[in-house]
Amino acid sequence: MSAELLLLRSPSANRVFTAAAGPLSVREAQWVLGSHAGAPADVHEHSVAGVDYLRILAEDTDLVRSLLAMLSAPFALFAPHPSADDGGETLLRPVALPQAMRHGSELETTLRYPGKTNEQFTAMLLNLAAALSSRRAGLLRGDLAVLDPTCGRGTTLNRALRLGLSPTGADLDRKDIDAYRTFLAAWAKQHRLPHTQSSGGLPTTGTGRGAKSAGSRWELDLAADRTAQRAGDVQKVRLLTCDTADLGAVLPYRSVDALVADLPYGVQHGARTEGWQRSPLELLERAVPAWRALLRTGGGIALALNRRTAPYTRVREILEAHDLHVLSADGEFRHRVDQSIDRDVVLAVPRDHPQLAMLRTLTVTATAEDEAGDAEHAPHVTHQPARAPEHGPRERTPHE
Ligand SMILES: C[S@@+](CC[C@H](N)C(=O)[O-])C[C@H]1O[C@@H](n2cnc3c(N)ncnc32)[C@H](O)[C@@H]1O
Repeated sequence: MSAELLLLRSPSANRVFTAAAGPLSVREAQWVLGSHAGAPADVHEHSVAGVDYLRILAEDTDLVRSLLAMLSAPFALFAPHPSADDGGETLLRPVALPQAMRHGSELETTLRYPGKTNEQFTAMLLNLAAALSSRRAGLLRGDLAVLDPTCGRGTTLNRALRLGLSPTGADLDRKDIDAYRTFLAAWAKQHRLPHTQSSGGLPTTGTGRGAKSAGSRWELDLAADRTAQRAGDVQKVRLLTCDTADLGAVLPYRSVDALVADLPYGVQHGARTEGWQRSPLELLERAVPAWRALLRTGGGIALALNRRTAPYTRVREILEAHDLHVLSADGEFRHRVDQSIDRDVVLAVPRDHPQLAMLRTLTVTATAEDEAGDAEHAPHVTHQPARAPEHGPRERTPHE
């Protein structure tokens, strides 16, 4: 039987996304709960005494509570019930949220640098990519294979580690990788987590005179204590310094469940250029074939992009040209980061994903405002039945 639950968001989510925080959280919860249930989830914004909540109608099961605890910004959960004096007041009974994290929040918040992806947004991206995966329960079990192919200084990897996963990250910028490596080793030491490190080169790419090592790798194996370490209960972080387009030659074919990337925005962060790749679209064109090869058939992709330098339609075209099916609507997650970054999220799965039909029932139509328009508010979205036939005419939003 369905029960009503009210989820209070962490106040910091409102500071990060301002007015878009509510709609973004609703869509995140809809994808996460809907994909686990196999049908659209009943989640809406709801206000009680001037305070905003997510109102969820779902079975109050351990699974639902665990999923809510893993959302990007849960603060407290309540079950509403009418007051006994019949005064029409709603009382909120606190409901315990399970402990979802294996490590403390300092892992995500300590490193600060220009170009860092916001932690709550990163958590949402990871949840969305995991929701698309047919192995989504691996997020709860700790065995979901997560790859961030443009990982910077590891915001996605830190989130994955907190969830008990063993993520892989790659970046071309050696300074970023070195800074993250140093941080992670110091963090493990500070928290007295038994760990071992190893490093080495990557396989050769190219042939003949053009043959060269793709880059280098560094790995950290981490355990909760010595007993766990001896029993082999370890988390592994794998960091690759290489061009993301070379990852197909470096990682095993079809080994990734959730590919999560905050793409270069094509803007400058202070004195820092985003690696060597100035054009996000050019990077995508080069990298998507490798990413597609690494993705399991039942895998999911969540990409954050700057609509100003990577227009949604072009990104969708590039993904669809590589046998991927785009599930998100144009503007579904749109929000303003600053003057030069009008951010959105693209969700995609392989065209032969075994649960494509179910995932398509979770899609919505969104109206992306004009590109020059106000992205302060995420657009309102409505549920729609599964999209028209794969090869039929594509939806076009007005500005395209
Ligand atoms: C928006 S940043 C990601 C930031 C990251 N999520 C974080 O919080 O640190 C994009 C990243 O893409 C990386 N990048 C750009 N071109 C690349 C390429 N060809 N191969 C691998 N990484 C690349 C940049 O070095 C940069 O770190």
